[in-house]
Amino acid sequence: MTIEVRWYGHGTWGITAGEHRIVLDPFFNDNPKSPIKAEQVEADYILVSHGHFDHVADAAAIANRTGATVLAAYEITSWLSEKHHVKNAIGMNLGGGVNLPFGRVKLTLAFHSSTLPDGTPGGNPGGFLLTIGGKKLYFACDTALFGDMRMIGDEQLDLAVLPIGDLFTMGPDDSIAALKLLRPKQVAPAHYNTWPPIEQDAAAWAERVSAETDASPLVLEPGEAVTL
Ligand code: NI
Ligand code: MN
Repeated sequence: MTIEVRWYGHGTWGITAGEHRIVLDPFFNDNPKSPIKAEQVEADYILVSHGHFDHVADAAAIANRTGATVLAAYEITSWLSEKHHVKNAIGMNLGGGVNLPFGRVKLTLAFHSSTLPDGTPGGNPGGFLLTIGGKKLYFACDTALFGDMRMIGDEQLDLAVLPIGDLFTMGPDDSIAALKLLRPKQVAPAHYNTWPPIEQDAAAWAERVSAETDASPLVLEPGEAVTL
């Protein structure tokens, strides 16, 4: 199965696996880097890592228009169902996974916070480990560096997506340390250059990845995709 992974800026990704379309952390309409708006997004599944606005923003609108199934912490899927009329949702919790027609989705640890935009507690923040057609894709989402990334690395990752923006998540230095634990074949940076407080030099980061780790850096422009 061909897997296409497209970045929409910030923490927003689209994954196409065969005929399945997955959107991760849908933040389109208020995302200054996204080349498209939420109304243009087609999806069968929507993954939401945590409750912050820049991750949950367009989840309900896309789910309600397309009928996509939302996967997130149970607190977030309950909030989407009860307050935003989302019909199809699978509530999860950390360490749990679910087998879907395109592959397996596991909710992994993240060290961050997860209050929803209206102040409702969003449960624990997470990341996602996707197993699609024999490939392993790990989206760390918003998190600090943590030592248990070594165990996620034991899965033999084809692609890791790490935040490098600093301030709200790990920055470039800790992303290099994370790569030594995760040991992916390829790594893409995210959650940077959306706004001035999280500006980073992705080219300099990529040079460090090549010099200091065994991973191949994959710096995408918003709207650009890679095929795995
Ligand atoms: Ni966040
Ligand atoms: Mn964020």
